Amino acid sequence: MKKKDFPIFQNNKDLVYLDSAATSQKPQVVLDAMMDYYKNYNANVRRGLYPIAEKATAKVEEARDKVSEFINAEDPSEIIFVRNATEAINIVVESYTYPSIKEGEEIATTIMEHHSNFVPWQQLAIKKFLKFGYLDFDHNGNLFFVDELIKKAKSLAITHVSNVLGTINPIKEIIRNARKINKDIVILVDGAQSVPHMKVDVQDLDCDFFVFSGHKMMASTGIGVLYGKKKLLSRMEPFLYGGQMIQEVAIDRSTFADIPYRFEAGTLDIAGIISLGVAVDYLEKLGMEAIRNHEKKLTRYCLDQMEKIEGITLYGPKNAEEKGGIIAFNIERIHPHDIAQVLGDRNICIRAGHHCAMPLHTRLGVSATCRVSFGIYNETEDVDILVKGIQKVKKIFKA
Ligand SMILES: Cc1ncc(COP(=O)(O)O)c(C=O)c1O
Repeated sequence: MKKKDFPIFQNNKDLVYLDSAATSQKPQVVLDAMMDYYKNYNANVRRGLYPIAEKATAKVEEARDKVSEFINAEDPSEIIFVRNATEAINIVVESYTYPSIKEGEEIATTIMEHHSNFVPWQQLAIKKFLKFGYLDFDHNGNLFFVDELIKKAKSLAITHVSNVLGTINPIKEIIRNARKINKDIVILVDGAQSVPHMKVDVQDLDCDFFVFSGHKMMASTGIGVLYGKKKLLSRMEPFLYGGQMIQEVAIDRSTFADIPYRFEAGTLDIAGIISLGVAVDYLEKLGMEAIRNHEKKLTRYCLDQMEKIEGITLYGPKNAEEKGGIIAFNIERIHPHDIAQVLGDRNICIRAGHHCAMPLHTRLGVSATCRVSFGIYNETEDVDILVKGIQKVKKIFKA
């Protein structure tokens, strides 16, 4: 769709990059914006009273406004800049759930979560003696909604799109049903694999918290977003204490700034935030619907081609309508690492392993899978090269 916008492909002519679920490539406009900051107005924000500091501050707040509009938050103050999705989830666990939950109470997640949205909740359950329940999925990778679990749970942490199965969970419907049977449930949605690839509207979803990472959506590493409903964020204790997040500090006590600054202690990743603002512009210019359609077409094509490979097992939905651009697979009698290594030797970049989702792999009954994932810069030729590569691997391993 837009390969020419990404310098990495000019600098690596035969690169077949099929690992966008791990991190996306960066377009020139994003790289330029970061360099522009460092070259022309590098200064710390919210402190300096001189033009370059004022410009840097304005750019950070401009990025906040863009992100807020991008996911349709009610107000930009609901957008907290953090390091990544993982940090955002930990903030919710530590600053919202930990202080408000009592021993013996129940929290819920799903077995298809990335460790980022599993381990923090599991550890909270251990520390606070909570019951820790999870939603399971069927042979197609679709979640079962369990009334009994949701009715009792104080919180539900759920991914929008599985980073292994590719399943697009019907989040809006799940949230609506959950609220019908448990009006007090607090719901966190992990949007790390959805926000870069489809239109997300947090008000329409009616989630309480929504998290994602900039590096998977064309921005730099080190910048992520915690969205939270204003009424919840305003009640939360700070996560990190220090500079930038206070209102007043006396020797024996402090008061804290309003949201979002209360959760942005210390110097921010200013270049990262600026890159995120430009990445949002870039994605919006392409159009989220066009991006989704392009990746859906590629996913359908890839599934069709892969289904023809003898000895292949595909995991997750087989219908591209129900799936993000993520395809996990195994080939009989060949270890996933061998497949990824041989493809890697040919500059075909896929992932092999548990993809930070060990409970999901345990559930599938395998220790590892291969994973192909698409970005807007992929085309059907990439799939053709991949499929030829897999045939070569099969020949080498006589499988
Ligand atoms: C679904 C999902 N959630 C969370 C994360 C964690 O993202 P990060 O490492 O940027 O915090 C990932 C990363 O792969 C992911 O795929």
